[in-house]
Amino acid sequence: MTRSPAAGGASAARSLRERLPRPSRLSLAARLVLLFAVGTSLLLVALGIGLTLLLRTQLEARDREEIDGKTEAALFALRELGSAERIEASAARIGNITVGHPHLQVGLREGRRWLVRPMEEIVALVDAHGNDNIPHLPRYGRYQLDHDIWWLRRIDFVTADERTFVAYIGVHVSPAQHLMERLLGSLLVAGVLGVMASALIGWFIVRRGLAPLQNIAREAERVTADRLGEPLRLEDAPEELRGLVGSINRMLERLQASFRALEEFSADIAHELRTPLNNLMLQTQVSLSRERTAPEYQEALHSNLQELEQLQRMVSDMLFLARADRGMLAIRREPVDLGAEAASVAEFFEPAVAEHGQRIVVRGAAGIEGDRGMVRRALTNLLSNAVRYAPHGTAIHVEIRAERRGAVTVEVSNPAEPMSPEELSRLFSRFARGSNAAAAHAAKRSADGAGLGLSIVASIMRLHGGDVQAESASGRVCFRLRFPGAQPD
Ligand SMILES: Nc1ncnc2c1ncn2[C@@H]1O[C@H](COP(=O)(O)OP(=O)(O)O)[C@@H](O)[C@H]1O
Ligand SMILES: [Mg+2]
Repeated sequence: MTRSPAAGGASAARSLRERLPRPSRLSLAARLVLLFAVGTSLLLVALGIGLTLLLRTQLEARDREEIDGKTEAALFALRELGSAERIEASAARIGNITVGHPHLQVGLREGRRWLVRPMEEIVALVDAHGNDNIPHLPRYGRYQLDHDIWWLRRIDFVTADERTFVAYIGVHVSPAQHLMERLLGSLLVAGVLGVMASALIGWFIVRRGLAPLQNIAREAERVTADRLGEPLRLEDAPEELRGLVGSINRMLERLQASFRALEEFSADIAHELRTPLNNLMLQTQVSLSRERTAPEYQEALHSNLQELEQLQRMVSDMLFLARADRGMLAIRREPVDLGAEAASVAEFFEPAVAEHGQRIVVRGAAGIEGDRGMVRRALTNLLSNAVRYAPHGTAIHVEIRAERRGAVTVEVSNPAEPMSPEELSRLFSRFARGSNAAAAHAAKRSADGAGLGLSIVASIMRLHGGDVQAESASGRVCFRLRFPGAQPD
């Protein structure tokens, strides 16, 4: 067989997928810790951003307050001094408003003459930009000096005698900025440490939290085929695992039921084989107990042959059921004329029917696509039951009806004691025989009858995609085969 390239590509992709670590293969603890760590780091980052923004606005507000405050102080002093002479004489008073505040600078000049000289950098800045370009009260400019950031504002003050003095107020805002950078740095370190710590704590928490899972695993370890009946202890399980434990326990119950069915099945087989084997042994022992004539031996062998035939039938029935169960039976699809098959099977039973004074009435006709051999086998099983269980002198009906869409039903009915629906559905289980079976056995001693006939009918119908149902009404029991119509392949 050659492989199509598409199939090869798909399988290559599949094997690649299998080799890649999938998230679902991560241990539960690792996943939880990872999620925990991601969650905490997101929280810390959000907290950091929030804090930084808050701090920045606070610091800016403080700096603005400072520049405005010093502006007011300078204006107050200038107004109080009033005249140019007094300003010139007491310029130091203006200079004093920033004493003790190294991050504040004040300057005062008239024309190009500094009365109060600020630090050289500010002087250079004013010279570089030109006096008129420094923003005037109430505005201020933002300037970068080397690594420092300064806010600077100009105040023009005209005295009564028309002389103009210019005051400069500067605030060094960088210290605040440095503070923020330091804070951010420590926040980052704290964040990394915090994430590590939370992962560690998470690991311990998760391990403790998942301990009940290990308990369940230990409990499950105890389960063996002969201890399926003992459920995992549910009362120890935490709320979230109750569902899982419950499902496992229900699975154990189902497994136990299957195991029990298997055990019963083998016990049934042993039991069913024992009767014919005992009969064989007994007859053989009796025959051998003394000298016999040739016709006597012949009769013993003949009776042994009947037992052997029944054994063979039972074994082949069991084999058929086992194969059908394991899907080892392929059915052939061929046109089957149900009317003709029913008539031919009825003819086969003619001698037995005549012996019991019964009659078989076949009505209707229809065709299906199916396995002729199996269909015959199903009809044979139903008719042999009918002949066996219907009272003497009664009529057995076979009615074939074509339904809608090519579906076909076949009903085989005969007079019988009423049976409950439970009793009827039980008849289809293996080795199941109804209460009327013993009487029929005693009366006719038919070779048939291990209780497998209806199970085989059910299997055959399943293989054909149909089903079989039993119904008991107005003194008759009716077995209805339903073949589905043509199925899409
Ligand atoms: N046509 C019928 N009329 C009355 N009882 C029936 C009929 N067919 C089946 N049964 C009941 O169903 C039981 C199971 O049938 P079957 O599986 O064929 O086993 P067996 O015929 O070996 O007993 C029978 O033992 C009998 O009690
Ligand atoms: Mg039968």
